Amino acid sequence: MSAVLEARGLKKSFGAVVAAENVSLSVPLGQRVSLIGSNGAGKTTFVNMVTGYLKPDAGTISLEGRDVTRLSPRQITRLGVARSFQIPQLCLEMSALDNMLVAAACNDGALSFLAPAHTPEKIDRAIGLLERFALAEHADRRVAELPGGVRKLLDIAMSLTGHPKLLLLDEPTSGVSVEEKFPMMDTIVEALSRERVTVLFVEHDMEIVTRYSDRVVAFYSGRVIADDPPEAVLNDEQVQRYVTGTRK
Ligand SMILES: Nc1ncnc2c1ncn2[C@@H]1O[C@H](COP(=O)(O)OP(=O)(O)OP(=O)(O)O)[C@@H](O)[C@H]1O
Ligand SMILES: [Mg+2]
Repeated sequence: MSAVLEARGLKKSFGAVVAAENVSLSVPLGQRVSLIGSNGAGKTTFVNMVTGYLKPDAGTISLEGRDVTRLSPRQITRLGVARSFQIPQLCLEMSALDNMLVAAACNDGALSFLAPAHTPEKIDRAIGLLERFALAEHADRRVAELPGGVRKLLDIAMSLTGHPKLLLLDEPTSGVSVEEKFPMMDTIVEALSRERVTVLFVEHDMEIVTRYSDRVVAFYSGRVIADDPPEAVLNDEQVQRYVTGTRK
């Protein structure tokens, strides 16, 4: 069985800044992988290339054995890749449920005046996902009234409306309080395993990385400097020097 995601030799520069240098990564079905690295290390650039928002200068990206390197974000979404952003992309004046329905319609490519967003199946799926993310009580509330942690969960729930195979999360717990972060990750991880989604998540919090990843990929200056289970990566000399700052 081919990997869900196979990135080979990715390169990307912005002028003189090298944001990806020979990045290769193969992710099998069902694995939960965290991407770590200091600010500017190239994590979001990698996510942007996998999701088609940025085109690599060199290298290839395959999904389940199919080359998607030159496809648009929309085509890549259709092949089962979803993402969240560092800052949730939500419509604040609509209810949580309506945000879910709009996300579902967008995934279908069916958001138009001719295709109703509110079919019974779509509503069932949206409510089912809200329940999985412990958001059912917020279904009818305006997003503007919801706290930041709830909005982040909603953003992730929305990304699952199209039944993705691969989900990329950019800092799911950023801006969330210390007390909230573990319960929130428990909810996310439980919901994602029930949906059988392979997940890559960018994370700065090493407690979250250790507790919730099967595997950790460390970036430094656009390169992958370590790729192993959490304990091995966090004990790696270069990771301690360039990522966690625990070694001088
Ligand atoms: N669109 C762009 N135009 C110019 N430079 C960019 C662009 N996107 C990223 N860069 C540069 O590429 C490098 C990698 O950036 P990237 O956003 O991938 O880092 P990151 O690891 O996600 O960092 P952070 O933890 O701060 O989110 C940085 O030096 C950044 O300034
Ligand atoms: Mg980033």
